[in-house]
Amino acid sequence: MVTISLVLLLLSVQWCWAQEDPLLPFSEHLDPNHKVKLKWGFDKVKGTILFELTVRTTGWVGFGFSPNGGMIGADMVIGGVGPKGSYFMDRHAVAFSKPLIDKQQNYKLLSLTESNGKTVMKFQRSISSCDENDLPITDLPMKLIYAYGVTDEIQYHSNRRGTKELNLLKYMPRVKSPNSKHFDITMDNFSVPAKQTYYHCKTRKAPTFDRKKHIYRIEPLITNADVVHHMVLYRCPPSVTKPFEEECYVGVVTKCREAVAVWGMGGGAFEFPEVAGLPIGGRVGDLFYKLEVHYNNPQKTKGRVDNSGLRFFYTSELRQHDAGVLITGLSVLPGYAIPPKAKSFLTYGLCDTAEIPKVLGTPTDLQVFTVMLHTHLAGRKVKVGHFREGKQIDFLAVDENYSFEYQHAINLGKTKTVKLGDQLLVECTYNTENRNTLTWGGLSTTDEMCLAFLVYYPVMNLSICTSLPNPTTLMSKMGAKDPATWLNMMSRKTWNDMSINQYQQTLKRIDQLVMVMDSDNNVSNNTGLIPDLKAILSAPCVSGRATRSLALPPGP
Ligand SMILES: *[C@@H]1O[C@H](CO)[C@@H](O)[C@H](O)[C@H]1NC(C)=O
Repeated sequence: MVTISLVLLLLSVQWCWAQEDPLLPFSEHLDPNHKVKLKWGFDKVKGTILFELTVRTTGWVGFGFSPNGGMIGADMVIGGVGPKGSYFMDRHAVAFSKPLIDKQQNYKLLSLTESNGKTVMKFQRSISSCDENDLPITDLPMKLIYAYGVTDEIQYHSNRRGTKELNLLKYMPRVKSPNSKHFDITMDNFSVPAKQTYYHCKTRKAPTFDRKKHIYRIEPLITNADVVHHMVLYRCPPSVTKPFEEECYVGVVTKCREAVAVWGMGGGAFEFPEVAGLPIGGRVGDLFYKLEVHYNNPQKTKGRVDNSGLRFFYTSELRQHDAGVLITGLSVLPGYAIPPKAKSFLTYGLCDTAEIPKVLGTPTDLQVFTVMLHTHLAGRKVKVGHFREGKQIDFLAVDENYSFEYQHAINLGKTKTVKLGDQLLVECTYNTENRNTLTWGGLSTTDEMCLAFLVYYPVMNLSICTSLPNPTTLMSKMGAKDPATWLNMMSRKTWNDMSINQYQQTLKRIDQLVMVMDSDNNVSNNTGLIPDLKAILSAPCVSGRATRSLALPPGP
């Protein structure tokens, strides 16, 4: 088995960004008359969720969560701007009466204003529940409740109330009409081999458009759901001018490496944020695309004919930005190996965005909205640390329960800005307890990778931003004169907890060859060091104070 993709990802998240506020990407009206609008965004790494509730009233406004859609057992927040100033309180209801004030105030008010007959209340809370009177927010649909009054006296809301079921953390926005303009890139009657693992690659031209269009939605078209494991679409460089079809990664080195779309088992459609779309046509008009389908056929079933692929919905109404995908992490090269019998072995790859201006004339900051993490079979955890001026400021994404079989796109819940000069550290944890030989970096599923794919805008003409432990330093640290001696040493070494740990420390401490490559394969080369990644702090409980004055805490 000599096959595996560079990208193997699952896009199961859909997006709808009604407004451009990068912290509040999602929005829905909670009532049929569009008097109550909720905007939200979240940060799973920090464990917080941010809301902005806008209600057409000058009276009190209330919003919360209810186990069954009704009042009893509901967790809510009520606030408003009254004659004596603003008020805001975390409450809960135990009966059909005025909700009680929680002893512990776990909603934090960020702003509360009233103008043009509208009350706008912006507040934050923890995703989890911090006391017995709060409900945890899960990634399942939840019943949201709202109510409001015509005055600031909190009393019975009469019919000014309602319930709406929404999945806040896995929001599924509007479904476009299937008649919207689209094209498909699929297999054509491909006979699936009776092999457990097979990767098929089909390279063809995309439809030609005189003017640029934006792809805003990508849907999977699956004809053999039991054997189609994942699909990736790559854009080819202009040097690819002929269609061809072959087994992937066999023989010729493939030229089409710029991933533009992916789907994995269990995934649904992918929707771009409203401010961005994947460009096609115009300047990038006549390019070829490569569709890679991973067939997983453990029963070795014969005679399957497959027409799976992807459907691309596009529009001429161009969005503000072109989106793109940047590969970050550890260079995919056999320059390092993971020892056998390791319970949790760490590898690191560094993306130093300070290198970007060395290959691009007009570089910009990256607005990242989705991250897809990727390792092969031995991967157990993947974390992406975000550093600015040498200090870790955030995690872009974290998956503590990584599974090769169920890879998924990480919905960031908001747009995270990676400024030029920032560094991204991808840390992967592997388990090789059931292996007897070294696991090398490489393309096969039995080799390993440690990558994070950033989906971002505005697109830059970039393909990868990675690093590799300096092979020369590594060899000399291990006392080898040349690669052959080193290889020999590595494979003969007795690997136990101590030697594994020592080797892991060496890999982390030595200098890294950091590089950025643009889409025309121009490379910047520099060196760097792996910074220390903070342990993840468990999500803190947001605490607020019941507010009765106009003195508001500062914004986020
Ligand atoms: C695929 O097979 C079907 C049924 O045999 C046939 O009608 C169709 O023309 C084939 N499509 C292609 C592209 O060969």
